[in-house]
Amino acid sequence: MTAEIIDGKAAAQRLRERVALHAAAFEQAAGRKAGLAVVLVGEDPASAVYVRSKGKATLAAGMASFEHRLPADTPQAELLTLVDALNADAAVDGILVQLPLPRHIDESAVLLRISPDKDVDGFHPVNAGRLATGLPGFVPCTPLGCLLLMEERLGSVAGKDAVVIGRSNIVGKPMAALLTRASATVTIAHSRTQDLAAHVARADIVVAAVGIPQFVKGEWIKPGATVIDVGINRTDAGLVGDVDFAGAASVAGAITPVPGGVGPMTIACLLRNTLVAAHRAAG
Ligand code: GUN
Repeated sequence: MTAEIIDGKAAAQRLRERVALHAAAFEQAAGRKAGLAVVLVGEDPASAVYVRSKGKATLAAGMASFEHRLPADTPQAELLTLVDALNADAAVDGILVQLPLPRHIDESAVLLRISPDKDVDGFHPVNAGRLATGLPGFVPCTPLGCLLLMEERLGSVAGKDAVVIGRSNIVGKPMAALLTRASATVTIAHSRTQDLAAHVARADIVVAAVGIPQFVKGEWIKPGATVIDVGINRTDAGLVGDVDFAGAASVAGAITPVPGGVGPMTIACLLRNTLVAAHRAAG
């Protein structure tokens, strides 16, 4: 069997077009554009690329983009003061502080300072709690994008066996919560899991988010499974995911490529979350 390659770029483009239509309708009704503020501290090249593409995508969707670039030695207090100002700014519906932050800054102090109502990353513990308890809130963009890709292929994930490999606050844990909410049967595996191959072998859905190149082997995959690869690893051979793509593609039913799979969906979901924030702010 040869897997269908899930085209995340095309799916993201469709989502961005839908968001742009809604953003135009919001502007008509509210008399202002929905706005996203992105904060970058320091000059990490990969972060700078992400921030630039977030800004461009925000403008392309017909929303306002506010970029704040601060030097790497910015004191934490100054960053917190900026977050306070963005929290109070009625033109700003969503706030994203690009991670990782320089080492002298306490990441969780910064994330806690962002108003949960503007936390379009969904990283604030209040939003994590809302997701865990089934209340409306903001869901982190990468797992949300993964779920949309799965649902596009499978329709519903209800009743499916899903294995999420990785337990980070940004991907693994919210991914498991989202799948549970969508009635999948979820296993969270991680670096201490015994016999990972056996868990993966019975999974209808595999989400790999461990950050280790080609960690998930093709021979582990159940024939016909849907494989979502969140990994973006820079190696001598170029960008590779957390899944042995060639091996998995020969048994899976569908698989996301790296790049061009999950990545583009993350930004599209960020725009979607920003529009939701704008609607909530406008009442
Ligand atoms: N760094 C890498 N991915 C992300 C993301 O989705 N949000 C933020 N804030 N920082 C990141």
